[in-house]
Amino acid sequence: MIHNERLVRACRRQEVDRAPVWMMRQAGRYLPEYRAVRARTDFLTLCKTPELAAEVSLQPLEILGVDAVIMFSDILIPVEAMGMSLELTEKGPVLGDPIRTSGQIEKLIVPDPVERTPFVFETIRLLKNALRDEVPLIGFAGAPYTLASYMIEGGTSRNFAAIKTLMYREPELLHRLLEKISDAIILYLNAQIEAGVHLVQLFDTWAGELGPEYYEEFALEYERKIFSSLHRGPEGLGVPAALYINGCSAILEKMAESGANVLSIDWRIDLAEARRRVGNSIALQGNLDPCALLGTPETIRTQVKEILRKGAGAGHIMNLGHGILPMTPVENARAFIDAAKEGIREVA
Ligand code: CP3
Repeated sequence: MIHNERLVRACRRQEVDRAPVWMMRQAGRYLPEYRAVRARTDFLTLCKTPELAAEVSLQPLEILGVDAVIMFSDILIPVEAMGMSLELTEKGPVLGDPIRTSGQIEKLIVPDPVERTPFVFETIRLLKNALRDEVPLIGFAGAPYTLASYMIEGGTSRNFAAIKTLMYREPELLHRLLEKISDAIILYLNAQIEAGVHLVQLFDTWAGELGPEYYEEFALEYERKIFSSLHRGPEGLGVPAALYINGCSAILEKMAESGANVLSIDWRIDLAEARRRVGNSIALQGNLDPCALLGTPETIRTQVKEILRKGAGAGHIMNLGHGILPMTPVENARAFIDAAKEGIREVA
């Protein structure tokens, strides 16, 4: 039994006293306490040092009082475990020897997650001990298309030309890579569930860059395979699964066929419209523009109330439409969390 059950209940579309709230990238550089830990170590060492990873995971709970803790790590950790070299630089992630050939794909391994990334599971163990089921613990992974984009582009990309070249010229090669990543991610998420996380979120951040038919073939198929292979337990009782895509508006109905219990949506779509389009059998998470947190506490409050009104109770989880930005003033993050917790009682 989790003491604060709001998130898990909202994922199942059960009644809650108010919508639960947390933020993607909630343990990050906008917090001075996070920057203090980061000043002592580089990002990857932080991910691989369970005591520090657990410490920063808990900061948003202690400082802002969010309704859930997400384990601190990165979606690229399993990519490194598959055999690619990974560096986090000022400009973002850099992967050595970007994948371009079938030989490179054959060489990638499908790692045993507990053996190759033991620090992730030690972080979960420390978090479970510290939290004592006070709030739910969220586990996560990157989805195959998004991870493949980093593996093929070698880092963050503007137009995804390298992965799309492969997609249009040698689609079977890309499918082989996506299959292999799926196998790795299924093991990785099942190991997190085994270790006791209460919700898993699959980040297919860049799948929104695909045209609808290509989304189905190169992203949705693998999201579906992953969700159907998770040991989630009995329907309505087990571990719910969420799917996040940035730029989801054109493919929302298709996302609803992925097998996810929750769709985490970006800010470019109206929440009430998203609800009309997907119906009532799936929960929705979001969807404040992260840049709205660069406004004032008053403008943030107004927007939060508006989103809560559109979310209308059951099956809505308050969140941002993408990760919180490093330049966000902490008092604005606090205004967001506080306004979400106040709910819409005082709105006329
Ligand atoms: O949400 C959380 O608090 C948990 C931790 C988390 C991080 N990254 C920490 C992080 C999660 C869930 C992620 C997911 C992630 N990582 C995604 C998917 C979601 C999204 O935001 O789109 C992606 C695409 C990545 C890849 C990645 N990692 C990029 C592009 C970058 C550089 C950009 C940036 O924000 O700095 C990272 C680094 C990273 N991951 C940081 C954090 C807190 C910043 C590193 C630092 O401390 O310097």
